[in-house]
Amino acid sequence: VCWLAPEQTAGKQKPYMYTQGQAVLNRSFFPCFDTPSVKFTYSATVKVPEGFTAVMSATSWEKQKDNTFVFKMSQPIPSYLIALVVGDIVSAEVGPRSRVWAEPCLIEAAKKEYDGVIEEFLAVGEKLFGPYVWGRYDILFMPPSFPFGGMENPCLTFVTPCLLAGDRSLVDVIIHEISHSWFGNLVTNATWGEFWLNEGFTMYAQRRISTEVYGLAYTCLEAATGRALLRQHMDNTGEDHPLNKLRVVIEPGLWGVNPDDTYNETPYEKGYCFVSYLAHLVGDQSKFDAFLQAYVNRFKFQSITADDTLGFFLEYFPELKEKGVDSIPGFEFDRWLNTPGWPPYLPDLSPGEQLMRPAEELAELWAADSLDMEAIEAVDITAWRTYQLVYFLDQVLQKSPLPEGNVERLSKMYPKISKAQNAELRLRWCQIILKNNLEAEFSKVKDFLHSQGKQKYTLPLYRAMWGGSEATRALAMETFSATAPQLHINVQNYVKKILGLEVAE
Ligand code: BES
Ligand code: ZN
Repeated sequence: VCWLAPEQTAGKQKPYMYTQGQAVLNRSFFPCFDTPSVKFTYSATVKVPEGFTAVMSATSWEKQKDNTFVFKMSQPIPSYLIALVVGDIVSAEVGPRSRVWAEPCLIEAAKKEYDGVIEEFLAVGEKLFGPYVWGRYDILFMPPSFPFGGMENPCLTFVTPCLLAGDRSLVDVIIHEISHSWFGNLVTNATWGEFWLNEGFTMYAQRRISTEVYGLAYTCLEAATGRALLRQHMDNTGEDHPLNKLRVVIEPGLWGVNPDDTYNETPYEKGYCFVSYLAHLVGDQSKFDAFLQAYVNRFKFQSITADDTLGFFLEYFPELKEKGVDSIPGFEFDRWLNTPGWPPYLPDLSPGEQLMRPAEELAELWAADSLDMEAIEAVDITAWRTYQLVYFLDQVLQKSPLPEGNVERLSKMYPKISKAQNAELRLRWCQIILKNNLEAEFSKVKDFLHSQGKQKYTLPLYRAMWGGSEATRALAMETFSATAPQLHINVQNYVKKILGLEVAE
């Protein structure tokens, strides 16, 4: 349960509290069987001080006298999906079954970001995966220290305020959380050791919805940035790390995994590859979509293991079972689940090439020893989408450190990148600054880490600072002492580990 002082909110006037249950934190919020294998309905009566509003992940709510809110969740859910926020928050309608919630100073921006777009994602999701059973789909913009991009609390997704980019460019996070309405919230992993069942299927569903709404080229580009994150993660941990299996053993100690540590790229992107591989075995998108819908229908409101999923897959496609697709050498289902390392099958992302190629070529130009400014100036990036710029920056990062002076020139040439307000661009730009030891722009790293506390932005930057020079190490220490009290306790502890500081058990 996180208690924020007024300074830690956007409005800086009133305190705020929120809960984050996943993976195993709700046991400190209320007594429960804190495992995703148990589902139950709940109701809650929450009395809050005057001037505050309470919201929960519930199918119905009602305000009674004395600022008392009564909530009811009428569908069975696992403990980790119960969530509560109390703060100075207001709401605005953005669709027939959707509103946004935010602090008053952010509500205009929140409404503008998603007005009129949520319903289409829900409708496409229903078309692909079956009925949306949760009634409303609302979105709550959290204070800047919220550690995740989004959290799929049923009926009420929590999101980082970093999504307020002004141009809907980070809407993939919303599509992701909506996809959990079927994968995760309806069909749930029975143990955190098979977290990929939640996230791998959700990544697949997210990209199916994205393909329907934005087309294949754009979706492949987004998936390519996901693949780059998986590459970075495996490079960091080593491919053979026990974390890099889809099925991990939850156990304290060296060979076991802490359920919180399963929040890494493997369940997401390797999981996505495995689901894509299953689709590839079927060979027909509409047949695979029908399978997904049947799968949701078969296991809705249940908690299951990968064996249930794969058993149902083979039962649904008896001709594939006949062929023994579960034991094709190199691609055995058992290998997918139990062998760490790079996915044996990667879905074809070449439909995104028209968007990726120009970014690759431009990165190539910037990595040259003597810059061909004529060729560089001939490339017009003003119309590039955010994810195209992200892809470009990932390429630049991979090639970094660049030859002396190149990053300074790149910075001057593209203020759209080096002065970006968009969090995904800022993360990459900060990583480039650090990898190239560009001291003149170190303050940008510090500013970014002061402005938000998302785990996936915070940890890579501390890793880069700690792995860098004397100066970047000092920057890490200075930034952490100033921002630690604002960070979620888990994120604080992960940063401490990176910096070699003691972590209280
Ligand atoms: N359920 C996760 C967030 C989570 C995972 C919280 C593990 C606690 C433990 C959420 O659905 C998620 O995956 N968010 C991503 C979104 C991205 C993949 C589009 C995030 O926050 O980065
Ligand atoms: Zn997710």
